[in-house]
Amino acid sequence: MELGLRGRIAFVTGAAAGIGAAIANSLATEGCIVWIADRNGEEAERTAASFRTKGLNARAVLVDVTCAAALTEAVKSVVEQDLRLDILVCNAGILSTGLFQRSSSAEWERVIAVNLHGVANSIRAVLDTMIAQGHGRIVNIASISATRGGGSIGNVLYGTSKAGVVALTMGLARELGPSGITVNAIAPAVADTPMTHSSLTAESVDRIVSRIPLRRLATAADIADAVTFLASDRASFISGAVIPVDGGLLTT
Ligand SMILES: NC(=O)c1ccc[n+]([C@@H]2O[C@H](COP(=O)([O-])OP(=O)(O)OC[C@H]3O[C@@H](n4cnc5c(N)ncnc54)[C@H](O)[C@@H]3O)[C@@H](O)[C@H]2O)c1
Repeated sequence: MELGLRGRIAFVTGAAAGIGAAIANSLATEGCIVWIADRNGEEAERTAASFRTKGLNARAVLVDVTCAAALTEAVKSVVEQDLRLDILVCNAGILSTGLFQRSSSAEWERVIAVNLHGVANSIRAVLDTMIAQGHGRIVNIASISATRGGGSIGNVLYGTSKAGVVALTMGLARELGPSGITVNAIAPAVADTPMTHSSLTAESVDRIVSRIPLRRLATAADIADAVTFLASDRASFISGAVIPVDGGLLTT
């Protein structure tokens, strides 16, 4: 299937590592010019350089998604260089674990700032450009914890922040559709990434895998494939969708 992504300009947040790096790799492999936007500038540079050695078109940009002004500047510089911005993937996110009873308001502010404001800030930064083009693809990385109030690894705060991402996805699909912009989300369950391994023991991974009908964790590439499809011309009539990529976990 020809995805029609050759020459598209893509901006992927949190793309220095994990799922974001796999998304950037997949989009670049399909011919996109990919901007790897991350608060870890050194790792973003390393990831972009490793893609370039494979002949892919990738550049790094240092950005913290909690800072709206930094995002506006970063997007301005992308558009000055590449003259457009076709695809935004809002992937940057952080995990929160533990009981609500022990969570502080500072922890709520920290997680909501990245997982929810970070998505809104990223979308706001690209909107003028996408509206002027009359074309855009926005894909947000939510989580199945949005529909379960937390879950396998994230707590109720994490689930709440991702539920906000789902609401943002559906509302913006309605608002931006007339401008030729689609807005969708992918909802992973548990993926094999640094985020997961920083919070789970091998024993808890085994327990989770035993509940997943397909009996394995997602790979970052599983998530990236779904994002790449939603970012492509083949998904031009899909908007406001929240697609689980969870090995069937939501059915259990
Ligand atoms: N790993 C999972 O099982 C899983 C499941 C469901 C959803 N998700 C979501 O997928 C996304 C990626 O997760 P991952 O497992 O690859 O995480 P990860 O921790 O492995 O990588 C996250 C990347 O985002 C960057 N980042 C974090 N905060 C940032 C900020 N404020 N500004 C810019 N960059 C920032 C980090 O530097 C890192 O490069 C997140 O939104 C996460 O909530 C992950």
